[in-house]
Amino acid sequence: MRVLTGIQASGKLHIGNYFGAMKPMIELQEKEELFTFIANYHSLTTSKDAKLLKQLTMEAAIDYLSLGIDPNKTAFWVQSDVKEVLELYWILSKFTPMGLLERGHSYKDKVAKGIPANHALFSYPVLMASDILILDTQKVPVGKDQIQHVEMTRDIATKFNNEYGEIFTLPQHVVNDEVATISGLDGAKMSKSYDNAIDIFMESEKKLQKRCNKIISSSTPLGESLEHKDCNIYNIASLFLDDNEKIALQTRYKSGEEGYGHFKKYLKELIWEEFAQAREKREYYLSNPDIVQDILNDGAKKVQKIASAKMEILRDAVGL
Ligand code: ADP
Ligand code: TRP
Repeated sequence: MRVLTGIQASGKLHIGNYFGAMKPMIELQEKEELFTFIANYHSLTTSKDAKLLKQLTMEAAIDYLSLGIDPNKTAFWVQSDVKEVLELYWILSKFTPMGLLERGHSYKDKVAKGIPANHALFSYPVLMASDILILDTQKVPVGKDQIQHVEMTRDIATKFNNEYGEIFTLPQHVVNDEVATISGLDGAKMSKSYDNAIDIFMESEKKLQKRCNKIISSSTPLGESLEHKDCNIYNIASLFLDDNEKIALQTRYKSGEEGYGHFKKYLKELIWEEFAQAREKREYYLSNPDIVQDILNDGAKKVQKIASAKMEILRDAVGL
């Protein structure tokens, strides 16, 4: 099964991103033919700073490689290195009714937030359709906010196929309902916008401990039995534990021998250990950006082959 994931590089990754999006993706590469790219053309719709966009793109590449994207199993590239998608974007535009884009939730939300309504923002779903269709993608794992974009892709592809024959594969979105929403320091959804996130790559163990210490817990005094249910510390810690370890932690909560401070320390250790190997890899890639660039170039080359073969068929089909 051919699976495509697109990543918007938007800065530091947190534990919610890891368990909600990255870990399932990294597991996918064992079972499926995975294609993963950094959607920098899409990021351009809201970017104001060239240096920052370049930096975020490189950082995202390094973070994903460090956390387990394996370029031997997965095609991993930067969107703007395969320019064929822009040609297809134009062709698809002809099969995209204005009304379809006008109904776009994501577009309407962004404009409501004060982002100027320009054509790139408006036609964003057409470029996304191009990313998906140029590779004959079958499955697209997405968050709920992106489902509509995959549906639009199907609409556009169907219109094209009706006119020119069965050239496009209709993709399906996949929403992983098993992945729960990870909560942050305050118990609300962990998000970089709420200042309640724990980043995956903290500068030091000390800083990570400081962050863990900010988790809001109840005020049960030391010496009393603690309730693990609805405890923010327990909830985050349990992400890193198997069933037996969870039971062991519940027993520690109940015993009353330890307070929240102990569990915050334990959580810090769990997080620091979980990402130890990724941190090492990240240091390596940070000091060897050429190696990262080579990996991205190889990925782009591989994808370009597929994309240009598809474009040949398409140009012929439409008479270009
Ligand atoms: P943020 O809310 O921090 O801005 P993004 O919207 O950039 O996060 O999310 C990137 C990916 O990580 C999406 O696929 C999203 O579903 C996933 N994700 C983000 N936060 C969480 C969370 N708290 N729990 C589960 N998944 C999350
Ligand atoms: N729009 C997606 C997001 O913001 C990123 C993206 C661009 C994408 N092109 C894609 C995702 C193609 C899947 C397939 O998350």
